[in-house]
Amino acid sequence: MLVTQQPVFRNFWYPVVPLDHLSPTKPFAFELLQEAIVIWLDEAGQPAAAPDRCCHRSAALSLGTVKDGCITCAYHGWQFDREGTCQKVPQLQDKTMIPKTYRIPSYHCTERYGYVWVCLGEPLQPIPEIPEASDAGHRVIHEFYEPWNCAGLRVMENELDLAHPTFVHTTTFGSEEHPIPDSLAVEETDYGLKIRATLGVVNPELQQKNLQMDEGQTVRHLDMDWFMPFTCCLRIHYPNGLTHMVVNTMTPIQDGRSQMVQFCVRNDTEAQTAAADAIAFDRQVTLEDKTILETTDDDVPLNAKYEQHMMTDKPGLLIRRRIAALLKEHNETEQTRHCD
Ligand code: FES
Ligand SMILES: [Fe+2]
Repeated sequence: MLVTQQPVFRNFWYPVVPLDHLSPTKPFAFELLQEAIVIWLDEAGQPAAAPDRCCHRSAALSLGTVKDGCITCAYHGWQFDREGTCQKVPQLQDKTMIPKTYRIPSYHCTERYGYVWVCLGEPLQPIPEIPEASDAGHRVIHEFYEPWNCAGLRVMENELDLAHPTFVHTTTFGSEEHPIPDSLAVEETDYGLKIRATLGVVNPELQQKNLQMDEGQTVRHLDMDWFMPFTCCLRIHYPNGLTHMVVNTMTPIQDGRSQMVQFCVRNDTEAQTAAADAIAFDRQVTLEDKTILETTDDDVPLNAKYEQHMMTDKPGLLIRRRIAALLKEHNETEQTRHCD
């Protein structure tokens, strides 16, 4: 399946940029599902999104500036508000003379968890709900915002695949003694999947410090949510009561390119674990995944017959089944470069 060939993916929310990357005067360019978009802050400081194309002579609006909450085209200075209405044409004396056809489309755009989320179509699901992110007993640590050269679906499957840590996470938490999880329970939900599992892991020195524990061996109790289509929330509970949650969205840029957006949520304090140390450990983990995932095909087959599977692929297979059902529901057929 090629994500840009399935229009239904336009109907989901994706985080496109951390809010604090935006300037009050400069717009921000992004590519979402192969579409050039522009993000800026309106008068109230709220993010707004539109196609990165002026309706006058098609210039990229992201080259312009932001004035009074409107995006101002760099070519002839037309100004558009967050609804796409043209509010100013410097070549016209009187604002009332601006024709109604001078307008650009606008996209759904809002802030959540410190990120700007955009939906190009009509949302089929709300933005994934992460209650801990707004809970006083937890802190949010922004970790990564970078493009990966792989399909988001591969990353979602990877996060729920408990056979890979032994082989991929050899310098972080993978345990040779635990090639499979001790338990794995999968439940379908309206938003995607809920998975509960137990996995034996090792803890290198930095992680022992981060976890405030001195054991080399431990067990992770995992409580994982997959939010259709490209967000995973992994709640990792450790025996000492610490919870480290990883929230990751692979925002689709193109078929083989996704913006990796990750933050973590923890129930400890900066004095107990420095945010920089938590990030350093997750950096190592994610780079181990990235090396492998960037070698995988961006055309992820939904039909099980095209790849081979094992017991620990159950969550991934359910993801493929749910995506296939989503396409069917929206009268789409799987577009692929895959051959029989
Ligand atoms: S192209 Fe944008 S104002 Fe002319
Ligand atoms: Fe991994």
